Amino acid sequence: MRTDTPPTISRHDYQPFPYALPEVALQLELDAARTRVTTRMSFERAAGELVPLVLNGQDLSLESVAIDGVPLGPDAYELHDEMLVLHPQARRFTVEIVSTCCPEANSTLMGLYVSGRHLFTQCEAEGFRRITWFPDRPDVMARYRVTLQADTAHYPLLLSNGNLLSQRDLGDGRHEAVWEDPHPKPSYLFAVVAGDFACREERITTRSGREVLLQVYSDHGAENRTEWAMDCLIRAIRWDEARYDLELDLDRFMIVAARDFNMGAMENKGLNVFNSAYVLADPATATDATYRAIEAVIGHEYFHNWTGNRVTCRDWFQLSLKEGLTVFRDQEFSADMLAHGLQGAAAASARAVKRIDDVSALRIAQFPEDAGPMAHPIRPESYQEIANFYTATIYEKGAEVIRMQQTLLGREGFREGLDEYFRRHDGQAVTCDDFIAAMESAYIRRNPGRDLQVFRHWYSQAGTPRVTVRMQHDPQAQTCTISLSQSNPPAGIELLQNPPATKPPLHIPVAIGLLSPTGAVVLPQGAQPHPLGAPGTLLLELTEAEQSWTFHGVAERPVLSLLRDFSAPVIIDYARPDTELALLARHDSDPFARWEAGQELARGLVLGRVQAQLNTAADLLCDTWAALAQDTALSPAYLARVLTLPAQRELIELTTPMEPQAVVQVHRALTQELGGRLQDHWVRLYGAMADDPATPYSPDPDSAGRRALRALALTYLLAGGHPQAAQWAMQHYEAATNMSERMGALNALATWGPEEVRTAAYQHFYDMWQDDPLVIDRWFSVQAASPFTGVGEVQALMLHPAFSLRNPNRARSVIFQFCMNNPGNAHSAAGYAFWADQVLALDALNPEIAARLARAFDNWARYTPALREPAREALQRIVQHPTLSRNVAEIVNKSLS
Ligand code: PHE
Ligand code: ZN
Repeated sequence: MRTDTPPTISRHDYQPFPYALPEVALQLELDAARTRVTTRMSFERAAGELVPLVLNGQDLSLESVAIDGVPLGPDAYELHDEMLVLHPQARRFTVEIVSTCCPEANSTLMGLYVSGRHLFTQCEAEGFRRITWFPDRPDVMARYRVTLQADTAHYPLLLSNGNLLSQRDLGDGRHEAVWEDPHPKPSYLFAVVAGDFACREERITTRSGREVLLQVYSDHGAENRTEWAMDCLIRAIRWDEARYDLELDLDRFMIVAARDFNMGAMENKGLNVFNSAYVLADPATATDATYRAIEAVIGHEYFHNWTGNRVTCRDWFQLSLKEGLTVFRDQEFSADMLAHGLQGAAAASARAVKRIDDVSALRIAQFPEDAGPMAHPIRPESYQEIANFYTATIYEKGAEVIRMQQTLLGREGFREGLDEYFRRHDGQAVTCDDFIAAMESAYIRRNPGRDLQVFRHWYSQAGTPRVTVRMQHDPQAQTCTISLSQSNPPAGIELLQNPPATKPPLHIPVAIGLLSPTGAVVLPQGAQPHPLGAPGTLLLELTEAEQSWTFHGVAERPVLSLLRDFSAPVIIDYARPDTELALLARHDSDPFARWEAGQELARGLVLGRVQAQLNTAADLLCDTWAALAQDTALSPAYLARVLTLPAQRELIELTTPMEPQAVVQVHRALTQELGGRLQDHWVRLYGAMADDPATPYSPDPDSAGRRALRALALTYLLAGGHPQAAQWAMQHYEAATNMSERMGALNALATWGPEEVRTAAYQHFYDMWQDDPLVIDRWFSVQAASPFTGVGEVQALMLHPAFSLRNPNRARSVIFQFCMNNPGNAHSAAGYAFWADQVLALDALNPEIAARLARAFDNWARYTPALREPAREALQRIVQHPTLSRNVAEIVNKSLS
């Protein structure tokens, strides 16, 4: 066990930094073995009294400190492990610090590090302190001038934020570049990249008529794979201009692809650094899903330029201020791209595909988090290691909380609120309260006498609220009364509070619709449909523990369509017959709720078979799916979602106690059953969705949807044991003209294929793509998640020469895939022991990645008893390790408490 339990940082302890720091000048003498950094900072004390100047630093060697040009002796400052304390006397003064760091020994990928032959920085959240001594906190905003010097041959390109002021040769085989960022920024947005890159560039004119230079840098040889990234960037710029009137505020905007990166990408001002997996794409190596993911991440980082950079976070408790809002913005961007050129119901259904994927992700990643030991509000109250709080809650639930505000305000009202936010806070470091206050000003203008006081509780409560629905119909009076009640019992650290946390009701927008027994839209007398919703959508604003609404002119008992478009991140409890779900799945006018009804039907079937050991027949599900499979009005992309069972991970979370093995078995058995019983439909769809091999590949939503549906049909045919399925799968794999088709076949084979066919395909794939790291990541992933890959097989994969623990994408493709996406094999004593070994091995290299892996079995305390003990033992073994990082220590201590 760590002897020094990491200190807990509390939101309420926030103190403003006692100095202003208007200007910083940095000089980096870049070298992989030893980089020397000279930092000049002009400080100005805010208040009257003298206060020490506390600077952060980590893994640095200090060479010298001077104040106003006078070198300080070792008695004039205190140097701690991660802190340097100075005692300046003047009100205004300049500090000059010289220090060194060692990029090539830095396996954490935070601060300055080596990737390939290049140098990169990563500063969010607290990486700048690994580059130099500095007040490394987001509320200290300074203007940066950066001088980079390096070997010309090895590092011909020297990049930093803002504008390039000058470049010169230093004569000794070295050169220099000077950059200046005109916008004051916090240190976490600082970036430097040095290396030898290929560059794709375009010049475009922004809405106000400024010409800007856009550049995408990649390794040489990959420049023909950056076309899509550039296209996404231009579309993101145009979209932000059109939808929010937000324009690019720089003369130059750069994206650089890095092979080794802890996360997806980083929004450094004017110099975004990306995991190469979210930049590089061509038809031969990227799937349709990759194309869409690149679009989302490029949009996300670009949108941060306003929501994150121009207006930033006062402290890290406010992380969702930028992340929730920016995820919401990238979701809307992606949805608009999918719906491009479509109108009415077709557009709504295209947007619903994005909503379905986002809600599925929320249920797989965020709901379990909210029901486990790490549960936290979107604005956490405390943390030990901030890197552990880049969570699905901050990001995805944070985006849901923003989306609810748009639902409550309407699109125009939301836009008004956002405009007000920028009017008030451009150039500042602010809080979630500031955001909601700006939104509230627009809300009050539209809803006199009401406010967002109750809504604010979404920022302070953890846990997924449950909304229970009751409906009474009075045929005589022709009224329908809908009662909603909400509950959100203490979750995560709320459970440990003494006295227990009191959790007032939330303001929950519940979008509903009424259907007649034949599936027609029913609009009650005088009811106002919600402008953002599908036909007949009514918005109920639940603000109390329990409320009722009575509607008139409802002659027949209606069928309720609930939580349309997933209008709030809650769980709905409503007992009703399966026949109603089947009706909704076929007729609901809201495409999200329609999909949801089918999912609910399938969930009920799986959970009934797992928990009550009911061998409920799948007849109704089969009939419903058969009808949907023939509905030609549905787009292939939408139909592919409709005909997919809820994910195993989502279902496991719904069992009490959690029964991973039983869920996997029932899920597989049901897939086989559907494969067999609907065989004619799969055969027909498999043929109908075939690509014309003469048409060049395009990742457009229709083509991608057809490929997804065809791969799904193939999966069911294999599962259902169609005699020709294995042969078709191999042909599908071999004839593939793009990676999407190829992976569609390979995934189907990995999940259901006969052993010889599977292994032949793996071998062929490796031989073909061995020199392409991003494709080899796919090769590892598909095997690690295969139900035929047990602990022994995954260990064998790790012995493959292409495996490396140091590259996060590779570690994710093998270890994370196995631990998180192979529940049938990972949930075992051997699986947990493997996991503990890997957490410890990774922790010695990269604590951020290790801490993410450490969360794989967060909810072990709810497992079935036979799994609980081995899981606890594995956790105990991690906790007892003598040298745990702060990152992993926080996770495992919380998991065991
Ligand atoms: N801020 C980055 C993003 O949203 C994520 C990130 C966090 C990247 C920390 C690196 C380190 O998109
Ligand atoms: Zn972000």
